[in-house]
Amino acid sequence: MSDTPPPGRRAPKSLRERAPLRAGALSEWALVPLRLFLGATFTYAGLQKFANPNFFNGVSPISIHAQLVAAARVSPLHAIVVHLVGLATPIGATIAIAELAIGAATLIGILQRAAAIGGAALSFLLFLTVSFHATPYYTGADLVFFFAWLPLALAGRSSRLSLSALIEARSAAEARRPAPEIVAIPFDEVRARCGHYDAGHCRALDGAACASTHCPVLAGPSASAGDGEVDRRAVLATASTVLVGGAVAVGAVVTAVAGRVVGGAGAPIAPNTLHAPPGAARTALGVELGPARDVPVGTAANFTIPVTGDPGIVVQASKGVFDAYDAVCPHAGCTVGYYAQNHLLVCPCHGSQFLVATGEVVAGPAPHGLAKLTVVEGPDGNLYLK
Ligand code: FES
Repeated sequence: MSDTPPPGRRAPKSLRERAPLRAGALSEWALVPLRLFLGATFTYAGLQKFANPNFFNGVSPISIHAQLVAAARVSPLHAIVVHLVGLATPIGATIAIAELAIGAATLIGILQRAAAIGGAALSFLLFLTVSFHATPYYTGADLVFFFAWLPLALAGRSSRLSLSALIEARSAAEARRPAPEIVAIPFDEVRARCGHYDAGHCRALDGAACASTHCPVLAGPSASAGDGEVDRRAVLATASTVLVGGAVAVGAVVTAVAGRVVGGAGAPIAPNTLHAPPGAARTALGVELGPARDVPVGTAANFTIPVTGDPGIVVQASKGVFDAYDAVCPHAGCTVGYYAQNHLLVCPCHGSQFLVATGEVVAGPAPHGLAKLTVVEGPDGNLYLK
């Protein structure tokens, strides 16, 4: 019987002529925007920490020290965090370097799965320490970042806009091998091409388990890289990783120096701490907090609210005018501090900002303002909490 189709009828397309579906490639593109966003965001977050002099300034309300102090109070890991407060600077530097390394690797596409797992782990750690009490829960970005990293951790390496894929393609070209490309082929088609397939076994091999080496679709004679090519690829991959690591380190140093040159050393924003005399009783003016001279004009002081045990903060905005608040941020429970540079109360955890005069929220995820307290100066020169 002849294979020639009857006159006027087109021959059916053979399986070999049909281009395989490129669903794999399409799905790889689908993750690229997420990958670029996470890479850029983590790179920016790392650089921002190095550029901000106040991040490592232990007395700043937006420092890593202030964040750890707050986390030691509200985090479900507080029993651990409380012992880490003294290591605030190395911990802050480690977080910034990790963010920078994860971001850069993700952005340029090397060690992608490792970077995604690192990003998910870091985000989950920040969720447990910093944004565990975020209200509503979806306003805590760390949880969202954690779930955003998961698809990249599960999908692993993407060959789109990726340095490691570029290295592989270059290596394959030098070895005169076609550049590796992933395509999805319907399994029926694979079975049709490998006509001996029978429920996981090969009829042509007397029912032995199917092995890709015998299938012209699953593997061809040129599908495996030679040892020389693997070596070359490994050397290129290692060299590019070292180069990127060096670039990250240089970027961190340059950013830190630039941040200090452009932004200065940061305003002196250390709040004092008021200590009520032991056993201070409530008077007609209220509970004594300590001497008013410990809160000079334009500065703030912390104290403990006797009834609740919460941290409180009092600012002498102008001579004789004391604005006081429960310093617990209504977003996730971190402790706000006074940021003299901008005359604002600032939360170190997610950057909510509050007006000193009213406690009203002006920026950030805090759902409402700070709880106002009344502090007055008594005739004896002490401050009293009503
Ligand atoms: Fe999130 Fe304050 S705890 S902004």
